[in-house]
This record gives sequence, structure tokens and C-alpha cells, in this order.
Amino acid sequence: MNAFDVPGRGNDWLAGMINDDRANARFQVDRTVFTGEDVLAIERERIFGQCWLYLAHTSEVLTPGSYVSRDVAGRPLLLTRDKEGELHVFYNTCTHRGAKVCRERRGNGGGFVCPYHAWAFNVKGELVNMPGRDALPPEANDNGELDLMRVEQFDVFKGFIFVCFSKKTEPLVDYLAGAGDYLAYVADQGPNGMEIIGGAQEYSADANWKMLTENSVDGYHGAPTHSTYFDYLRDRDGGPKKVREVGTVGWVKNLGNGHAVSESIGALPWGRPYARWVPGWGEKSRAEVEALEKEIMNRLGPERGKVVAQGDRNMIIFPNLVINDIMAVTVRTYYPVAPGRMNINSWTLAPTGESEASRDRRMRNFVEFLGPAGFATPDDVEMLESAQKGYAAGGWNDCSRGMRTNNPSKTEELQLRTFWRRWRQVMAARDKSELQGP
Ligand code: FES
Ligand SMILES: [Fe+2]
Repeated sequence: MNAFDVPGRGNDWLAGMINDDRANARFQVDRTVFTGEDVLAIERERIFGQCWLYLAHTSEVLTPGSYVSRDVAGRPLLLTRDKEGELHVFYNTCTHRGAKVCRERRGNGGGFVCPYHAWAFNVKGELVNMPGRDALPPEANDNGELDLMRVEQFDVFKGFIFVCFSKKTEPLVDYLAGAGDYLAYVADQGPNGMEIIGGAQEYSADANWKMLTENSVDGYHGAPTHSTYFDYLRDRDGGPKKVREVGTVGWVKNLGNGHAVSESIGALPWGRPYARWVPGWGEKSRAEVEALEKEIMNRLGPERGKVVAQGDRNMIIFPNLVINDIMAVTVRTYYPVAPGRMNINSWTLAPTGESEASRDRRMRNFVEFLGPAGFATPDDVEMLESAQKGYAAGGWNDCSRGMRTNNPSKTEELQLRTFWRRWRQVMAARDKSELQGP
């Protein structure tokens, strides 16, 4: 029995929350995964305590001395870049008696002076000064134990910085599995790399955090939940696409380790700033967008260039990183504060050095659909909160769509099953072989 086994229940009560019945093509999720305090307590340890979690993008700490402070899974972290250009990730807690040494969200400076008793640390986390140093023996920090505590693991993949609170977890690149290729498609859009623009958007929802993972790659809800957006595009652009067709173009893929993508190439009705022009942007913008597309094709070759420029991707990286590379690029993470409530952070990613006109198209696109007041987000949040209320009735969710096909479309639910199978594997320490299949 391990630390999380509940007497009399073992791990089987967790495994039993997913009914993966391949013979009968039924996949069900016990709704107590969205409501149980006991489930959340185990998620905090096993999922948020062991998986790789997104922290920030390298563009947020570009210059020497710059820093960002941010909570990840309830832990306060501090990301810095030193004079030599090295990145560091510390826990944002003073090694004296715990206060946050950095109270700003971001900045640039020589280091941090704890506001409580004024211990001072440099950007490498070294304790460099304290008032009344004589009261401690001279050798007090010879082994560095009073320096800021380093996070157990951090790593960078294509500009995306991840942390992991367990030393035992596999290296990031292995953890990402097939999702690495998709992060690269996002990162390759700009010839000079990508950068986070503007600040973070922060909002909350009265719904379990896992529902946002599901929702973010769920093509089935697109037409019914977001019909007003598709109507708007059709009215504006004289769009040829019927709303009902939008969810049926493209496919979904299991990227390994619980990651999944919902994808199509060149098929969706909105414009992509890099680079798919739509009439709603006006004739004047056409030449610029086409030139951007050409640059991508020349730089990456026709095959990869087409995927990068014309592909639309909604991706989940287990457990809670969503990257929507669609009419704009949004990076989103979210954490539970209770079984029925989560805090959400999202950022916009854009090519570094993008023209003002292109950035303007991007921001409009972002605000229209992806922002907290856009066409999509309020409708999604409403549906999530509505479902959370429904879970008070108990019962099971059904995620069986497409279980008998090896080529699932976006309106099927392979991507949800990919997440849930991994969830069960991590939560109930199940065998990896359970992760495969439709
Ligand atoms: S808690 Fe930071 S100096 Fe005392
Ligand atoms: Fe949605």
C-alpha cells in the first residue's frame, strides 16, 4: 500500500473512476473526479507534484537581471536570468523565515531584498547580505543552504519553460513525447522567434480544472456553443463554410503521455496572422499576409511550411497546458483552488518583430474569440459551470465518440480519452500499455 491508498479502497477506487470498455466501445468517467475533495488531494500530490508544468516563456526574461514571479500549482516561484544569460528557477520564499523575497510580478534589477528582515539575494539566488551578520557564525552559509531554494527540475523546450517538483520524473523532452513536434510548429512561425505580448489574462471559473483540459481540445462543442462566432465570420467574410462543417474538417491525435492535438490544415474560416489571409481583413492587407506565408514556406520548406502557416492546432500537454494556435496563439494554464473552482492564466504569443499591422490583426483576432470577453471564453465558462452544477446529480460522463475508428475526426473524443487514460495511469499507478488505442 502506498501513501495514497485509502484503507479498504487501495488504488482501485481511482482506477475504477474510468470505465474504458473497448470491447463495447464505451468510455465513461465517474463524475466524482470533478467533485471529490479526496480526488483533488491526490491530484495535488501525484499530478501537480510529479508532472512537468508550464512556468513561462523565455521572452519574458530576455535581458540579464530580468525576473518573473509566478505561482505554479500553488507554489510561489521566481524565474531569473543572470548576467551570463543563464536561467534560474527558485522558490520565492526567503530562507530565513519564509516571506516572499520578490513581491513584483516582473522586473529587472540586481537581486531581491526580503521585505521582512532585509536578507538580500542576487539573481543567482545567493545570499549576499543580511543586517546584523555577526549574530550568525561566519560559516553559516558555507554550504549554500541559506541561498534561495532551487526548484527540483526545470527545462526549456523551444522557448517554453517548464518546472517539475519531483526529481524522479523523466526529462522534459521525453515527457513531451509527440507534443514536442507541435510546440515546434508554434515556435517556428516567426523568423526571429516568438514572444509573449501584453500581460497575463487572469480569470476564474466555478468548474473543475480538468473540464478546461477537455473543453480546449473538444471540437464537438464548437458549432453548438460558439455558433455566434461562426455566424459572425460568415457574415463578415461571406464565408463559404457552413457552421456545422467546421468541426468535421481535420483530425485528432494522441501525442503520447496524455498529450493530444486537434488539428486541420487550411480548412477553418478565420484568418491566421502568420499566415492565412481572409477577406474580412481588407484587400490592403493581402500582400503582407501572403508575403509572410511565402517567408515561412521558404524558410521551412513547402511541407513543414504549410503545416506551420496553414495549420490550426488546439493542443493539450498533460495535465494543464493548453496551446491554441488558431486565429491567434494563446498559452493557457489553470489550477484548482477547490474541486469546483479553478484559476486560469492565459497569455498571447506572437512572432518577435511582427509588423504593427499584423500585430493589430492578431490582437483583434485574439480579443474577438479567445479573450475573456470574446466570443468563445464566456460561452465555454458558462458550459463548464453548468456541467459542474450538473455533477451534483452524480452518474457518469460519456466520452465514447469515435471508439471504433482509427481515424477520428475533431468531433470525436479520442483526445479526451487520451487525457483520461493518462490521468488514470498517474493517479492509480496503472500500466503504460493502457494509454494506447482509440
Ligand atoms: S523572512 Fe526574509 S529576511 Fe526574514
Ligand atoms: Fe469553446
